[in-house]
Amino acid sequence: MWSSSNKIAAGDVVITWLTRDVIQPFVVTPGKDLNSRYGYYRHSDLIGQPYGSKIGSRNGKGFIHILRPTPELWTLALPHRTQILYLADIAFITSWLNIRPGSVVVEAGTGSGSFTHSITRTVGRNGKVFSYEFHEARAAKARDEFETHGMSDVVTLTHRNVCKDGFTVENVADAVFLDLPAPWDAIDHAKSALRKDRTARICCFSPCMEQVLRTVTSLNETGFTDITMYETLIRPHEVNQLPVLPSIAVASEKLKKSERKREDKRLRQIAQARAKHTEKRKRSDDEGADAEEDRMERKKTKTRNGTDEGEATTQNAWVSATTPDSLAGGDASTQVVSRVMPEVRGHTSFLTFAVLLPRVQASAPDIESALQRDRSDLSSGLSQCD
Ligand SMILES: C[S@@+](CC[C@H](N)C(=O)[O-])C[C@H]1O[C@@H](n2cnc3c(N)ncnc32)[C@H](O)[C@@H]1O
Repeated sequence: MWSSSNKIAAGDVVITWLTRDVIQPFVVTPGKDLNSRYGYYRHSDLIGQPYGSKIGSRNGKGFIHILRPTPELWTLALPHRTQILYLADIAFITSWLNIRPGSVVVEAGTGSGSFTHSITRTVGRNGKVFSYEFHEARAAKARDEFETHGMSDVVTLTHRNVCKDGFTVENVADAVFLDLPAPWDAIDHAKSALRKDRTARICCFSPCMEQVLRTVTSLNETGFTDITMYETLIRPHEVNQLPVLPSIAVASEKLKKSERKREDKRLRQIAQARAKHTEKRKRSDDEGADAEEDRMERKKTKTRNGTDEGEATTQNAWVSATTPDSLAGGDASTQVVSRVMPEVRGHTSFLTFAVLLPRVQASAPDIESALQRDRSDLSSGLSQCD
C-alpha cells in the first residue's frame, strides 16, 4: 500500500499539506506543476526529497509539506464522492468487529473508499476485503484508486446491488460492515457471507433512529445476538496560549490609582483658577471688568468640565481596550486556553453492532454421552433427596 521508500519517486501518490483544512493528494508526475495560493511547485522538484519535507515554492509565495499517505491522511484528503467515515468511527468499528491481521471482511457500499483503505491496512496481506458498490461510476473510480494504491491483492471490489443480489461469498467473513441506506435488506445476505464455525460480527452504520429500529428488528429476526447501538462523537478543541489575566485585586488597585490621579489634577485646576480670580479682582476696581472676569471664569469652568468628561471616556476605553496587556504588568507568563471548535468532523451516525454465534454441530455419540451425563446427574440428585 503506497510507497515505503524514504524518498519521493516519480509515480508516487503523495499528500500535500497546505493548511489544516487544505490537504490534497496527487501522483508525482514529471512535467506537471502544482499551483496553489501558497505558490507554484514543479512535481520534478519533489523527486528524491525525503517524505515529510517542507518545500519552498518556486515563486517565493510560501511552502508546503509533502507527506507519505496513510489511511488517516487519505480520509482527510480523498476526493469525496459520497459521505465518508472518519477516524473516530473507523477505529471504533474496527475494534468492535475485532478486525485484525488476517481477517476476512465484507463491506457495502464502498462509497469513497475511506473505510476500505483503513481496514485494508488492518487485515494486511494475509487478510481479505470484499467490497461492494452498486453505483457503476463510483465502483470504477474506487477500483482505479485501489489499483494505484497497491491494494488490489487484498481488496476485491464488485459492482453489485447487495440488497437485491446478496454477496459473492458464503461462510467466509469474520465481519460484515454495512454503510447503506437500507441495511436491513442486506442482513439475511450478510448472515450467508459470515462464517459459522466461529463467532462472527456485523455493524450497520445509519444516520437516523428509524433506520436503527428497522435494523435491530431485522438482526433479531435473522438470529443475531448481543445487539447494541452506539453513537460516536468527536469534539475537537482549539488550543491557544494567552497572557495570564491579572487578579481582581491587582486590577482594582490600578483603577483606584488612576482615579486618585484624576482627582488630584481636578483639585489643582480649581485651586489655580481661584488664585487667578482673586489676583485679578485685586488688580481692578472696575465692576464691569469684574463682571467680564466672571463670565470668562464661567466659560473656563464649562470647558474644564468638558475636558473631564473627555478624560472619563478615554479612561473607559483604556480599561476595556488595554487592560489585559497593561495590567499584566509585563509578566511574560502565559496560560493555555481552549475552546470547542464549531466544526464537528466525525459525527457520526448510529452504529448498530451484533454477533452471530457459531453453529453447534454435535455428533450423535456426543449427544448420547451428554444425555447419559444428564441422566446420571438426575438420579444421583434424586437419591440424595431420598
Ligand atoms: C455513504 S456511502 C459509503 C461510504 C464509505 N463507507 C466510505 O467510508 O467512504 C454509501 C454507498 O453505498 C452505495 N450503495 C447504496 N445502496 C447499495 C446497495 N444496495 N448495494 C451496493 N451499494 C450500495 C452507494 O452508492 C454509496 O456509494
